[in-house]
Amino acid sequence: MSTSSMQRILGKKGVEKIAMITCYDYSFARILDGKVDLILVGDSLGNVVLGYDRTAHVTMEDIVRHMGAVRRGAPNTLIIGDLPAGSYATPETAIENGKRIIDAGADAVKPEGRPDIIEKLTAAGIAVMGHLGYLPQTAEQFGVIGRDEQEAAALLEQARQVQAAGAFGLVLECIPATLAQKITGALSIPTIGIGSGAACDGQVLVLYDMLGLFTDFKPRFVRRYLNMAELVGDAVGHYVNDIKTGDFPSHKEEYQ
Ligand code: KIV
Repeated sequence: MSTSSMQRILGKKGVEKIAMITCYDYSFARILDGKVDLILVGDSLGNVVLGYDRTAHVTMEDIVRHMGAVRRGAPNTLIIGDLPAGSYATPETAIENGKRIIDAGADAVKPEGRPDIIEKLTAAGIAVMGHLGYLPQTAEQFGVIGRDEQEAAALLEQARQVQAAGAFGLVLECIPATLAQKITGALSIPTIGIGSGAACDGQVLVLYDMLGLFTDFKPRFVRRYLNMAELVGDAVGHYVNDIKTGDFPSHKEEYQ
């Protein structure tokens, strides 16, 4: 990630809210390019695209393939790639896999937790966004993190460590809004919230959640801007009906 790109994101803190969204494929990336500040090729792809029950099933090959597709569709946008579960267990594997994701088109990578690994990645010249709070790769169950005082203090300390390790931003997932506000105020790097309230410097949502395309479950923090599953269902219904009734294809839709 170029220094000027990183400065552009850092410079938004306290000035302008940062809009980040996930993306996994070329066609959606074409729509998003230039409209959002940051795209995340998140391992939520395991849930919403690949149909797994856990993001932990996502592999390096999955992230690399989808990163290439998103970069081809969004040449003008800063793109972050998730380091999938198991790909950053040691500093050596983290650096090797971080470089693979960068080579596939990412500007930066995002591990969950692990300030120690973030330090090694940034020292190797790989830009990193941190991720604290609810950590889907390792969590036993979905829930808010940091409600009790001890957990909240630990999260604030980890956030400071992530910043000290050289991350240029920090995702805060599912933590109480008051704690997110405290962490945001304590850091000079921007925080990007998901289920962590309005005080964060920016927000991220899973694209398929906010479009209403993934409907298996809907956490409280998701705002649906479209009911895409219903729209697609209706469109396919019309298509099937047009075939059955002989309405499709028409002469205009055939070659002579
Ligand atoms: O994989 C993902 O979509 C994420 C976001 C929830 C931040 O990591």
